[in-house]
Amino acid sequence: MAVVITGASSGIGAGFARRFAERGHDLVLTARRAERLEALATDLRATRGVDVTVIPADLTDPAAPAALAAAVAERGIRVTGLVNSAGFGTAARFADEDDARIAAELQVNVVALTLLSRVFLPQLIETRGVLVNISSTAGHQPLPGLAVYGASKTYVTTLTEAIWQETRSTGLRVLALCPGPTETEFFEVAGSETFKVGRSVGVDVVLDEAFAALDRRDPGPVHTVGAGNRAQGLFGRISPRRLRLWVAARAVGGH
Ligand SMILES: NC(=O)c1ccc[n+]([C@@H]2O[C@H](COP(=O)([O-])OP(=O)(O)OC[C@H]3O[C@@H](n4cnc5c(N)ncnc54)[C@H](OP(=O)(O)O)[C@@H]3O)[C@@H](O)[C@H]2O)c1
Repeated sequence: MAVVITGASSGIGAGFARRFAERGHDLVLTARRAERLEALATDLRATRGVDVTVIPADLTDPAAPAALAAAVAERGIRVTGLVNSAGFGTAARFADEDDARIAAELQVNVVALTLLSRVFLPQLIETRGVLVNISSTAGHQPLPGLAVYGASKTYVTTLTEAIWQETRSTGLRVLALCPGPTETEFFEVAGSETFKVGRSVGVDVVLDEAFAALDRRDPGPVHTVGAGNRAQGLFGRISPRRLRLWVAARAVGGH
């Protein structure tokens, strides 16, 4: 039995891999940068004594989720956990965004995450495992300047909430994890630091809160990392639409 982790070559996904390995779980690691995955796998096999399978994949390829599931099945691996951490954002005004990059962002953040959640769900339920979808505080309200990214994360949160409700009686633990700004390669990939709203934290802070939630019988459906971010999330839910847009626009640099 193994935990499948997307986006395991960097940041939050790599952190989940380390923590699950510390707890003795075998792993399947995926991302595009195979050499990084191999280096992490070698380290975790040696230091934690767990089995780690590396299956590189580019999740912008619409066929990738099914191919990944087939590759896992071919190896006879039963899946007891799925962490969908692969994702990226783009810092730009919507009118200036590039069509191909928008399509790739939605494919990775939304479509691949959805298909992977669904294809592994029967096994996750059978094994009374865990499904963790990495959403974001960016999904707590619309986000001018990161419109597509924010909308993609709102989708991730609501999809995961619905899965949580549908699987409540099964023993599967389902969590939409919403970190705020976290020190990873995310901001470099997105092309701007200006929207790092509030204090950013290390990956370990995100993982500590995530595993504290996962150690509960029912961790979900949503956990937002950090008290300040939870207050921001509450504001996003209860404030009038124009006010929350004004505040969000100011927070990300005046878009
Ligand atoms: N850092 C933050 O402030 C923050 C806050 C809230 C939520 N998040 C979310 O946390 C998740 C992890 O991001 P991170 O902060 O850890 O950033 P990161 O260090 O940039 O990691 C992103 C991961 O996604 C993978 N990925 C990107 N495009 C991919 C593709 N086409 N196919 C397969 N894998 C792909 C990358 O692997 P390869 O490049 O090797 O393919 C990498 O492993 C994302 O969903 C992000 O939206 C981040």
